[in-house]
Amino acid sequence: MSIQLNALPKQLSALPKANHTIDAEDLLPESLCQFLACTTPDAWLQWALENPETLLIDHAQCEKKAASTAMSLLYRYVDQPLLLSKMSQLAREELLHFEQVVALMESRGVAYQHLTASRYAEGLRRHVRSNDPERLIDVLIIGAIIEARSCERFARLIPYLDEELAKFYRTLVKSEGRHFEDYLLLARQQTSNSIDERITFFVAREAELITSPDTAFRFHSGVPA
Ligand SMILES: [Fe+2]
Ligand SMILES: [Fe+2]
Repeated sequence: MSIQLNALPKQLSALPKANHTIDAEDLLPESLCQFLACTTPDAWLQWALENPETLLIDHAQCEKKAASTAMSLLYRYVDQPLLLSKMSQLAREELLHFEQVVALMESRGVAYQHLTASRYAEGLRRHVRSNDPERLIDVLIIGAIIEARSCERFARLIPYLDEELAKFYRTLVKSEGRHFEDYLLLARQQTSNSIDERITFFVAREAELITSPDTAFRFHSGVPA
């Protein structure tokens, strides 16, 4: 399924695509597209292109938070060797992404300023069960969802970005796609029972957050209110 230009709202279809155009689906693993319950609405894409500075600043925030979430798992679950190695590697990669976004912001004269968090992560985390292993399973499923959505959004933005940013986002599509797989693997590893029902629950909550009206533009926000 590709973004059909003639199906886009007038404003977005009027935006010129760059020369490096490539359909999002050509970049995204099929398993990831099937995992998410909805694609990013065109209204969010339009909102992002109208807010290039906030997009970069909030993206930097997201990379930092992704590293911090992985670090907190490193502290809490010291008896799980695979989790420790995957989360340690992931935290390092997210911090590298953070450095890369901050460097891009500096080269473009974008001032790093404080932004309030979007409702997205909290909107998912409020459903996390209290006790392990259920707690950890939920946190890992949410990790997989956030990585998958980030990957999908980078891919959808690429056709509209300048070459430098598009090139950077193509590398992120690859690493966030891998992080999605790692989180899912770790979640499934926590129990011999199926976690599919729990995945379906969280993926549905996520789709609600992605498709419903939101007050402020952020990397993981819904659509303009
Ligand atoms: Fe990242
Ligand atoms: Fe990631």
